[in-house]
Amino acid sequence: MRTIKPKAILAALWMIPLAIVLTTNAVAGDKPNGKELYKANCKACHDKGSKFGEFTPMTLIQDQWRGFFKEKLVPAHKDVTLPGQSIKLLDSLTPEQMKAIEKFCVDHAADSEQPQTCT
Ligand code: HEC
Repeated sequence: MRTIKPKAILAALWMIPLAIVLTTNAVAGDKPNGKELYKANCKACHDKGSKFGEFTPMTLIQDQWRGFFKEKLVPAHKDVTLPGQSIKLLDSLTPEQMKAIEKFCVDHAADSEQPQTCT
């Protein structure tokens, strides 16, 4: 028994960094999600030179993005459909997906700690 104990402790200790790595990956894994969704669902209409206006996260500040998702997203997009799609943009995204896009925009807005375009 005395020889097993330190091993057991070591084994248990190994779980801690492993758990941290796994959790960090899970959290980091959520982030590109919003970005990928933005690329797939917003960029087609808001890329450089777009007639609908060029928007990337750092085009607006955080409050403007929050206000946009709260008040302008639906009126400005209720009739739009992505090129090549048959379902309306707003019907093709789940609330969770829209939340992820909003988070990406807010997290990388002009006044955020990591302003980003969407390239
Ligand atoms: C199929 C084309 C299309 C797609 C896809 C699209 N938009 Fe738009 N967007 C528009 C149009 C059209 C307007 C209105 C332009 C206007 O009123 O001059 C607009 C307006 C906007 C505005 C400005 C709103 C304002 O009044 O200040 C923002 C910001 C915006 N879109 C962000 C997004 C985001 C974020 C997504 C992805 C979830 C997205 N758009 C997807 C076409 C699109």
